[in-house]
Amino acid sequence: MKSVINKHEISFILKEEITNPTYPDFLSDKEVKCVKNFHLSMDEYKVTPLVSLNTLAKKLGVHKIYVKDESYRFGLNAFKALGGTYAIARFLCKKLNIDVKLASFDYFNTPEVKEKIKDMVFATATDGNHGKGVAWAASKLGCKSVVYMPKGSSLTRLKAIQEVGAQAFITNLNYDESVRLVKEKAEKNGWQVIQDTSWEGYEDIPLWITQGYATMADEALEQMHLDGVKRPTHVFLQAGVGASAGSILGYYANVFKDECPIAVIVEPEDAACIYKSALADDGKAHFVTGELNTIMAGLACGEPNPMTWEILRDFAKGYVSCPDYVTARGMRILGNPIGKDEKIISGESGAVGLGLLTLLLEREELKDVKEKLKIDEHSIILCFSTEGDTDPQRYAEIVHDGKYPSTSL
Ligand SMILES: Cc1ncc(COP(=O)(O)O)c(C=O)c1O
Repeated sequence: MKSVINKHEISFILKEEITNPTYPDFLSDKEVKCVKNFHLSMDEYKVTPLVSLNTLAKKLGVHKIYVKDESYRFGLNAFKALGGTYAIARFLCKKLNIDVKLASFDYFNTPEVKEKIKDMVFATATDGNHGKGVAWAASKLGCKSVVYMPKGSSLTRLKAIQEVGAQAFITNLNYDESVRLVKEKAEKNGWQVIQDTSWEGYEDIPLWITQGYATMADEALEQMHLDGVKRPTHVFLQAGVGASAGSILGYYANVFKDECPIAVIVEPEDAACIYKSALADDGKAHFVTGELNTIMAGLACGEPNPMTWEILRDFAKGYVSCPDYVTARGMRILGNPIGKDEKIISGESGAVGLGLLTLLLEREELKDVKEKLKIDEHSIILCFSTEGDTDPQRYAEIVHDGKYPSTSL
């Protein structure tokens, strides 16, 4: 049973119940601790801040609003390198026959290993953040990388990828077509594809990327424990192909079982492939094609990652398709905090969850959705600001110059 509610151009699908979910073994506590140990071995590793927006929570009538600020990740302004670094490490372990427990950047940086990997080329298609992570990891290991970006990608983001050592190009294809292009080019040139979505016969690397993202989910739990909180009651997770949302939700499902937080998956309206798949209600992933127009560049993906789609299908309660004003609203709220709340610089793909949450809590017309999601004064809500101002000009236009509206009302 599900209900579909459309208000202010926002569309909600709310599932009545979660039945017979399959718990993802690859996101078990044991697997995630192994991922975290690898990240801990990196010189640049530091826990990113978990900000508690106490004044905002009080104003909106909930117990806590936590935002994990991934703009601090490895100095790269986005969370994505968590996945790329771990996938490259696991790939090298397999290739060189190294025990996973030995996987660390220091180990790969030894002259003996470097000699073996120096001619490797890692390739990927990306809106920006994933490619930057792959390029950064490759150059740290002395390898080359090639990155293809979809049509309309930001020149600033292109430059940022080139600066960390990749050969990078903007194509005239959308994200999903760029993925197919990389696949073809890699086959021809002997490159290794490091892609964050899977297809038949290409499952290991996207699985490792997905596992890599779980470090931020685990950090958030540890930070909450230090703040005296056992678990979030709700998580708002934005999705492109859905690997990051699936990683966080799959891990929390394994950790909390029947007490898994109520999860809401949030997407841009023109690229809402998880929403479309939930609406079809046949258990299968469905695609969105075409231009995928949105300012949320990192979420402009039309084809769900098949592996994480199953997690989102089984464990999420809500699926929401949002116009761009929702993220513009979130960016402004995070960038202009009230009371003693800390400022968070959150980019277009980072703020849509928080933007949606504030609408749900403030708008009388959305009260029925809020109630169905069981959000009340006891709720402890967790959002992930997955990027900072990865396109600073666009960020300034939205947050300082008021270029996009914050509401359709
Ligand atoms: C900043 C940011 N947030 C969220 C996402 C969504 O991640 P996924 O494609 O795994 O759903 C991306 C993807 O590129 C991103 O760059």
